[in-house]
Amino acid sequence: MTLRRIVRMGHPVLRQRAAEVRDPTAPEIRALAAEMLQIMEQANGVGLAAPQVAVPARLIVYSVPASRSSGEADDAPAAPQVLVDPVLTPLEPELQAGWEGCLSIPGLRGLVPRHAVLRVTGWDTEGRAVDRVARGFNARVLQHEVDHLDGILYLDRMPDMGSLAFDEELQALAAEREAEEAALRTG
Ligand code: NI
Repeated sequence: MTLRRIVRMGHPVLRQRAAEVRDPTAPEIRALAAEMLQIMEQANGVGLAAPQVAVPARLIVYSVPASRSSGEADDAPAAPQVLVDPVLTPLEPELQAGWEGCLSIPGLRGLVPRHAVLRVTGWDTEGRAVDRVARGFNARVLQHEVDHLDGILYLDRMPDMGSLAFDEELQALAAEREAEEAALRTG
């Protein structure tokens, strides 16, 4: 089966509000969720919202790799999972800046302020209610993906475009810095 393609910035579906799913156990919703998990894995992403595969429905998939988890309470590593009709409620006004990229804006990265801790409610595709607290990277990935359901891209959330960077440039800079440090050690 050919998987749906990830649409990129410029596709109008990324700028509209997605509709509530209402029945998270509907066969077509389960099939869409399974396909999105596959697409996310193939793209090496940590999150994907249905509008990113051109389906204007309030469904997201995400995961939290151990390397991104802070290890604190409510920011544990998370296996790839599905959330239907998610609703986020910030629990503290505090915002934290962190780097984000997006599969619909490939090759770029920028610093985005996000709520540090929030409550997430919604449904899984078995029809079970989800209700928990998310913090740190868990909170960040949820805010990024739920924004997609409201037609919002991370660029819209950046107070300072000065941090917007190409991944390749950041990697090249890091490699150059490492080489300089190695030369200092041996020199
Ligand atoms: Ni994104």
